[in-house]
Amino acid sequence: INVAVIFGGKSGEHEVSLMSATSVIKAIDKKKYNVLPLGITKEGSWMIYNGPIEKIESGEWEVAAKKQLEQNPNNNILSIMPLGGKKSKLAELVDVVFPVLHGPFGEDGTIQGLLEMADIPYVGAGVLASAVGMDKVYTKQIFKQAGLPVGKYIVIMRKDFRENKETAIRLVEENFQYPIFLKPANLGSSVGISKAHNREELIKGLEMAAKHDRKMLVETFINGREIECAVLGNDDPKASVAGEILPSHEFYDYNAKYFDDGNSKIVIPANIPKEKELEIREMAVKAYTAIDCSGLARADFFLEKETMKIYINEVNTMPGFTKYSMYPLLWKETGLSYDQLIDQLIGLAIE
Ligand code: DAL
Ligand code: MG
Repeated sequence: INVAVIFGGKSGEHEVSLMSATSVIKAIDKKKYNVLPLGITKEGSWMIYNGPIEKIESGEWEVAAKKQLEQNPNNNILSIMPLGGKKSKLAELVDVVFPVLHGPFGEDGTIQGLLEMADIPYVGAGVLASAVGMDKVYTKQIFKQAGLPVGKYIVIMRKDFRENKETAIRLVEENFQYPIFLKPANLGSSVGISKAHNREELIKGLEMAAKHDRKMLVETFINGREIECAVLGNDDPKASVAGEILPSHEFYDYNAKYFDDGNSKIVIPANIPKEKELEIREMAVKAYTAIDCSGLARADFFLEKETMKIYINEVNTMPGFTKYSMYPLLWKETGLSYDQLIDQLIGLAIE
């Protein structure tokens, strides 16, 4: 079976993807699968990469891939659309694609749509679930409709904020007490997210979020523990044990996630009451089904400290996938090794 692993991409999570994909490529059983690594640069250019896997994470792969491309300018196997009644070049070469891409243009239904058009099976959620999961506003609307508890939030459009800051600020201050979270609606890995403790930080935070998206979300701060649960499957999805993140910073931001001193800790299984864990696992599957997900997703929750009430925060349809990432570690604790997990995911894509 030939598997194309796509990595990089145009999103703010390009580097995270390089790390995730390196782990995925290393773990794929080479006796069973041939791997074709396909990189997408930050500019959005697609290139085949045949060099050492170690050079993906550092970004050095780009130089080598460009050189290869210059030497074989007629090598157009990346042409992805079927032409003249024939399969696309890529579909001739690969049986399945594993898009290890996070964030916009990777996890949001766009590449999934492209692969649907090209008639190539792929790992993970389809167009709709990917798009819904990427948009924090639609995610919450669907969760609410499914009866899942979500924290209080409002939406502020960039246009309205830029045209009339006073009104936007009043709206926020009438509805919330500080601290609050400010988020672009469509990014992952906490890119563009901030926590505001006062009006000054609110304005700064909205300005920053507005750089990333035309739609922004203001969310109430939930004083809770961060609990996550992994879901795997198509029509009969299963939930893993729950895990907890103990952030080293005020919240689990981009730096804490990937570039830190390692002070943020993952605790698996989460040290919470059994009935809370069961509730979380049930909610994770319910959330998965509500957005019509398939393949995989990681569902993220808050367990409010005072009330022990559970809130669902979001789902990630292509969660971080390094050996130290929550998603594979949750499955490991549940009884599925990293390699077995990869094997199952590819299986789910072509079943
Ligand atoms: N968006 C990152 C990769 C995650 O949720 O793990
Ligand atoms: Mg996320």
